[in-house]
Amino acid sequence: AESLTALIARFLSLCDYKTEKYIVAKNKKVGVLYRLIQLTIIGYIIGWVFLSKKGYQETDESIQSSVITKLKGVSVTNTSESGVVVWGPEDYVIPPQGEGVLFVVTNFLETPNQQLGYCAESSKVVDGRCRSDADCRGGHTVVAGNGLMSGRCIVSDVNSTGTCEIYGWCPVEKKFKPQRALLANAENFTIYIKNFIQFPKFSFSKSNVLETSDESYLKSCRYDEQIHPYCPIFELGDITRRAGYNFQDMAVYGGSVGIMIDWDCDLDKGYSQCHPQYYFTRLDTTACNRSVAMGFNFRHTRYFKHHTGEIHRSLFKVYGVRFNIMVHGKVGT
Ligand SMILES: *[C@@H]1O[C@H](CO)[C@@H](O)[C@H](O)[C@H]1NC(C)=O
Ligand SMILES: *[C@@H]1O[C@H](CO)[C@@H](O)[C@H](O)[C@H]1NC(C)=O
Ligand SMILES: *[C@@H]1O[C@H](CO)[C@@H](O)[C@H](O)[C@H]1NC(C)=O
Ligand SMILES: *[C@@H]1O[C@H](CO)[C@@H](O)[C@H](O)[C@H]1NC(C)=O
Repeated sequence: AESLTALIARFLSLCDYKTEKYIVAKNKKVGVLYRLIQLTIIGYIIGWVFLSKKGYQETDESIQSSVITKLKGVSVTNTSESGVVVWGPEDYVIPPQGEGVLFVVTNFLETPNQQLGYCAESSKVVDGRCRSDADCRGGHTVVAGNGLMSGRCIVSDVNSTGTCEIYGWCPVEKKFKPQRALLANAENFTIYIKNFIQFPKFSFSKSNVLETSDESYLKSCRYDEQIHPYCPIFELGDITRRAGYNFQDMAVYGGSVGIMIDWDCDLDKGYSQCHPQYYFTRLDTTACNRSVAMGFNFRHTRYFKHHTGEIHRSLFKVYGVRFNIMVHGKVGT
């Protein structure tokens, strides 16, 4: 029973109001320090959390975005393999349907008129090199090569290559070391980027294309941070320059460039004040300058049929710049 009363007494004591015993330090230094700490905390809350970070605002970072691109510009090349070729966007943009990630051909090597048949394997292919027929196992494919070995080593005749004879698309691609970009004026091609965004939480949607009644504006404007910050048309050379690289240097071996579209809007300021910012950066860089991994190329083919019914193809090794358009954003209200 005694322990029960003690428990009740303790429980009741929870409701007691205690006053604290203050110690007044008559020390100016301690006093000033104490007030300073208080001020800092209040200053942080008002200045940083409220004014700068808008901590009182509700935000939405779940941006929904769609990117559509269109390139314009024409280039003419004249090479010994292909002769004179006119390149339009339908030729140099891969894929051509206007994606947010696109590749623009700036340099190429064509191996025209390939046909299925027998020819010498390329000397670039290590597994295709041989000293005698015994090195060429007939019926086997060349590792990382271009075809099926016939069993013959091409060493003795006038066209000696020191490689196995293969069955495949002949002639094989020759050795190629790019010297300069063949589509030199690609730096003057323009890319029109249409970006539509939505923030579902606030039912807010907008596009980066300036809403203007002036029809000719989009025909003539070029993006410029100062003069035309809301023009969605960019020159390719200008994009790489803003990323810190010379287009002609990049065009020889190719590369990869990121275009960041950043939407950071305070909806309290109104719909018309919400504009995107653009940032450009080269993505295929490493600490050292000319690493072997730098550059970007791939191969594609075009097939056609002669009037005799034989199938031929043109093999293209294309070098170019890949543009990767990335959209980020948040809005607050
Ligand atoms: C293309 O190059 C060839 C050989 O270099 C030259 O004879 C020809 O005139 C050139 N064609 C054009 C249109 O420049
Ligand atoms: C050597 O190459 C030439 C031209 O590519 C060809 O006409 C000729 O038949 C070849 N000679 C032999 C022995 O394969
Ligand atoms: C790109 O356009 C500018 C200005 O119109 C011109 O000076 C330059 O020579 C062009 N570049 C190429 C590679 O044609
Ligand atoms: C990298 O390239 C820049 C410009 O092309 C050059 O100034 C710099 O010396 C190079 N750095 C190295 C480590 O090669």
